[in-house]
Amino acid sequence: MWDRAGEGKKIPFIRLRNIKKTFGHVVALDGINLDVYPGEVTALVGDNGAGKSTLIKIIAGVLNPDEGELSLNGRHFQHLTPSRAIELGISAVYQDLALVDCRDVASNIFLGKEPLKACFFVDKKRMNRESEELLKKLKVSVPSVTTPVELLSGGQRQGVAVARSIKQKGRMLIFDEPTAAMGVRESAGVLELIRDLGDEGFAVFVISHNLHHVFTIADRICVIRNGRLVKDLRTKSATPDQVVGFITGTNRDIADTADIVNIKEGSITT
Ligand SMILES: Nc1ncnc2c1ncn2[C@@H]1O[C@H](COP(=O)(O)OP(=O)(O)O)[C@@H](O)[C@H]1O
Ligand SMILES: [Mg+2]
Repeated sequence: MWDRAGEGKKIPFIRLRNIKKTFGHVVALDGINLDVYPGEVTALVGDNGAGKSTLIKIIAGVLNPDEGELSLNGRHFQHLTPSRAIELGISAVYQDLALVDCRDVASNIFLGKEPLKACFFVDKKRMNRESEELLKKLKVSVPSVTTPVELLSGGQRQGVAVARSIKQKGRMLIFDEPTAAMGVRESAGVLELIRDLGDEGFAVFVISHNLHHVFTIADRICVIRNGRLVKDLRTKSATPDQVVGFITGTNRDIADTADIVNIKEGSITT
């Protein structure tokens, strides 16, 4: 039913190689190598200031890296722009910034891509019908597709934002703290939605501070510390304590990705 997503699991949707980004003297990203796969939920965890938001801004084309390369489908890019990223199927799901409060659910899902009838009039009936179908597939319940989004809860807004990303042909969906400021029940709904998106074949990339949430939804946990990807773990073979250790730097092992890269480059700086 999701014909755009979910081709085989083994080919990464996106590949990042040696991504570096500095802001003045601050090294935000220091040589990130990361592959994100379709059909998987990949969580990115790390302390405040570790570089998580900078990394997703680079993937979404909002920031340009100083060095490194992104590849998608065999095409290589030194940087993306927001519109190029969307064309390539990369969609950052922002619950607050992206929605137009005073407009209804269906208008938000179709924002900027409204279907026309008789080449001139917006086909509102079709928008409503397709929005209902999509929200049903996503198991997102809203009072009606004609409800203004300002009347929705955080979880419902998140659902509308996801529906819009999918309408824009998003295949990689990026969430930055999707359950921030949500209650327990509402968070559970959003987590279930994110997990389902992974199962349906989307490449899902989630930043979260909440390790309990991460362990509930992620297939894979990538730990970033001081701008370096220090650990890439399968969730089922990891424990929360271990992950906390990698986040804080008290747990370091020989397979530290950053160290391997640095040893290869002959530039161990830590
Ligand atoms: N626009 C910016 N200008 C200057 N420094 C920035 C900017 N954005 C991020 N930084 C710095 O880069 C580092 C990584 O930030 P960020 O990616 O936001 O971390 P995280 O999302 O993991 O908390 C931090 O030291 C932060 O202060
Ligand atoms: Mg951040």
